[in-house]
Amino acid sequence: MSRFDGKTVLITGAGRGIGKAIAQRFASEGASLALVSNVEADLLATAEELTAAGAHVQTLVVDVSDSDQVENAVEGAVQRFGRIDVLVNNAGIAWEEPVLEIKPEHWKKIIDVNLNGMFWVAQSVAKHMAAQGGGVIVNMASTNGLVGEANYAHYNASKGGVVLLTKTMAIELGSKGIRVNAVCPGYIQTPMSEAIDSPEFIEQYIRAKIPLGRVGKPEDVAGVFAFLASDDAAFITGETIVVDGGQLAF
Ligand SMILES: NC(=O)c1ccc[n+]([C@@H]2O[C@H](COP(=O)([O-])OP(=O)(O)OC[C@H]3O[C@@H](n4cnc5c(N)ncnc54)[C@H](O)[C@@H]3O)[C@@H](O)[C@H]2O)c1
Repeated sequence: MSRFDGKTVLITGAGRGIGKAIAQRFASEGASLALVSNVEADLLATAEELTAAGAHVQTLVVDVSDSDQVENAVEGAVQRFGRIDVLVNNAGIAWEEPVLEIKPEHWKKIIDVNLNGMFWVAQSVAKHMAAQGGGVIVNMASTNGLVGEANYAHYNASKGGVVLLTKTMAIELGSKGIRVNAVCPGYIQTPMSEAIDSPEFIEQYIRAKIPLGRVGKPEDVAGVFAFLASDDAAFITGETIVVDGGQLAF
């Protein structure tokens, strides 16, 4: 018996990077999956892989910053699987921009996807979870939601918002049987981080900042999402778990 046999997990940003690793992890533990992304090609490739491995998979092409699209997609997942037991609220974007140069449309875009989008998805899924008698939400925050990093003011603000959204939803929804937690990864090597940083930068970063002597893999993060979604975490809510190789220990 696997931990997520008979459970449905909706995962946003599931086409690549950490979201894809999370989808692989839940599929390997028996879950049926509703996979959400704004990039159809990535989504279909991930779905094909998981279906070939025996998982039940639905794909939903959605921009999470559009609340109507989100509402329709969540409705579609509930129609297909009957319920959503776990939400992995992972989709996000990032880029570097000095605080004095951030353009209004860039600020709005990052807040719209990383904070507003996360809220639309969490609220929409939570309504169904409340009606069905419970569920688990795990939001993707970041160490950048706990401490500052230069040139990421918009990203840091969005992730700090996710941390407090998580705590507030945990307080309001506990009585409805819904647990809400967040994961705060440090440096994880994914298409997102590869687009921003050179190999030389990463090497220096590891030496200066990461006690475990390496950057994280998407799988390092996926296991923590699975733990928080499982009954092993039945008494954990409103928590943020840092997965950073020791970076915030300094
Ligand atoms: N890589 C890291 O070091 C790191 C560290 C901490 C937190 N995170 C967070 O983890 C999450 C995943 O990051 P990643 O590194 O795997 O990035 P990634 O760019 O590799 O993957 C992001 C995924 O989100 C999807 N997405 C982006 N905008 C979307 C939108 N508007 N609607 C729907 N889907 C959308 C993309 O299509 C993609 O599938 C993000 O929230 C990111 O902020 C990443």
